[in-house]
Amino acid sequence: MKKVLVSTGGGDCPGLNAVIRAIVKRAQRTQDWEVYGSMEAFNGVLRSPKEIIRLDDEKVAGIHAKGGTILQTTNKGGPFNWPVKKEDGSWTTEDRSDEMIDYLKREGFEAVINIGGDGSQEISYQLFEKGLNVIGVPKTIDNDLACTDYTFGFQTAVDIATDAVDKLVTTAESHHRLMILEVMGRGAGWIALHSAIGGGAEVCLIPEIPYDINKVLERLNSRYEAGKGFAIIVIAEGAKPKKGSVVARKSDETGYQNVRLGGIANQLSDQLKKAGFDHDIREMVLGHLQRGGIPIAYDRVLATQFGVKAMEMVINGEYGQMVSFLHHEITSVSLKRATEEHNFVDPQSFLVQTAKGVGISFGD
Ligand code: F6P
Repeated sequence: MKKVLVSTGGGDCPGLNAVIRAIVKRAQRTQDWEVYGSMEAFNGVLRSPKEIIRLDDEKVAGIHAKGGTILQTTNKGGPFNWPVKKEDGSWTTEDRSDEMIDYLKREGFEAVINIGGDGSQEISYQLFEKGLNVIGVPKTIDNDLACTDYTFGFQTAVDIATDAVDKLVTTAESHHRLMILEVMGRGAGWIALHSAIGGGAEVCLIPEIPYDINKVLERLNSRYEAGKGFAIIVIAEGAKPKKGSVVARKSDETGYQNVRLGGIANQLSDQLKKAGFDHDIREMVLGHLQRGGIPIAYDRVLATQFGVKAMEMVINGEYGQMVSFLHHEITSVSLKRATEEHNFVDPQSFLVQTAKGVGISFGD
């Protein structure tokens, strides 16, 4: 029997379990591949004792409808940046990639499927360059991975954010308030843009279009003057004013390299009050609710296609590639290309034009 190892890395995302299940089910149809899972991204391979489990029918039964990942995950450390405590109590990192690759080869793993976002796919590419047979599967609610139109998990996050807008509308309307909803997405405004259109917001602020507070105020005033005594703003966590910067803080969690975004909704609220907006404002940060719970059917289907495709690429030995959904086709692209850039909202796109066409202001 040949062995393939599956890993889920980075932030969790609805649909991860559907990918795992599809890989296992497709592998079973070959009769000659066995699937294993590394717990908590590649930590399961790097830890002693190893935390590697066999993934069979029983393990994956019914998991396509479950959120999170049965393999657990982490967005800290990894084989190239393994956190090590120094004698003085401070932390440093160690490159343990060679040791990990040697171990996997010695144990007879012929291939690795790494399901993850941009950081995880950079790891996939680096491991592939070092001689490991890796296939990447693009995952993230942010939809910011290049060379794929969609990542699984994104549509579920959009549904959750749109549902939040719908709920905020009824309370905003009752109190004649402005409600500001802050959504995730890091440097990409996809969740904000989709939920602003889907929920019918008046203003949508995204990282790709820095905003002018006076333009935002203009749109709100025209809304209130027209007699509609309430309004909704959807703002992406990575949005910033024209002459300002993102609201972020460094994390003190060991091995966590990203900055933690969050807080722009409160900042915007203060800016609006200073600029003269004189109606009540409430802010809401939707946060991790966008990643929790069950994946919607769209993401289960996309994730299942990604899993089957990844396993077929293993069977065919198409390594160094990332599964992708491009122009309605499930296909693949090189990990090199996929990790060279990001997928951001194009301010000139028809989606932005659509939002503007229905009166949504970007504060530009
Ligand atoms: O990348 C997915 C994401 O949910 C981002 O939208 C968000 O900024 C980040 O992860 C949050 O990370 P953490 O779960 O580490 O707080």
